Amino acid sequence: MEFIIDTADLKAIRRIVEFFPVIGVTTNPTIISKEKTDFKQLALDLREAVGPDKQVHIQTTSEKAEDIVAEAKALYDLVGGEFYIKIPIGAEGLKATMMLKGSGIGVTMTAIHTPQQALQAALAGATYVAPYVNRLDNVCADGVGVVADIVTIFDAYGLDCKVLAASFKNVQQVHECALCGGHAVTINPDLYDQLVYHPLTDKAIVDFTADWKSVYGDKGSLDLI
Ligand code: E4P
Repeated sequence: MEFIIDTADLKAIRRIVEFFPVIGVTTNPTIISKEKTDFKQLALDLREAVGPDKQVHIQTTSEKAEDIVAEAKALYDLVGGEFYIKIPIGAEGLKATMMLKGSGIGVTMTAIHTPQQALQAALAGATYVAPYVNRLDNVCADGVGVVADIVTIFDAYGLDCKVLAASFKNVQQVHECALCGGHAVTINPDLYDQLVYHPLTDKAIVDFTADWKSVYGDKGSLDLI
């Protein structure tokens, strides 16, 4: 299962890349806008922050297929490396995805809210589909259920497209996506810390430290061997 960082906050990206086994960064126009900075420089900085060997996903702001393709090529030339153009699902987006086949530019079809949208995206040639788990949960539409249905359909037809679940508000949603065979998740930096938090873990570490110090004081094992 792949983990990706859903932010354009460069400091947060550098920290998560250092401490967690992530494979890249995703953004959308809302995430980019939050940084209130020069877009071209931010796109370059995203590549630098995540590293040359990881994925960068940037979303198109164009509506027509031809414009989406031109934008994808320009961003690919700018950012380099393993680059994915995020394209919202729709007729123009599907056309753009089919036009990009063989270009070397990956497509992440985004704003997916139904399994049939995901199926069209996969058949058009998208590398990833991004269903919005929490936004579906917010309207009582079972976000993880949609992810599970997409996984089932892709498996049934042997489609070479990965489910990159997005829009998470808690670890339980991530956990359920892992259980149903979701191939990837993109989550915000705060959730990464929650993934590895447990009060019993904290207590265990406090107890280990206290027991050690009760015999060896401030000396570490390196001081003793
Ligand atoms: C990623 O592809 C999505 O744009 C993002 O995860 C949406 O998250 P949100 O629902 O928290 O805005």
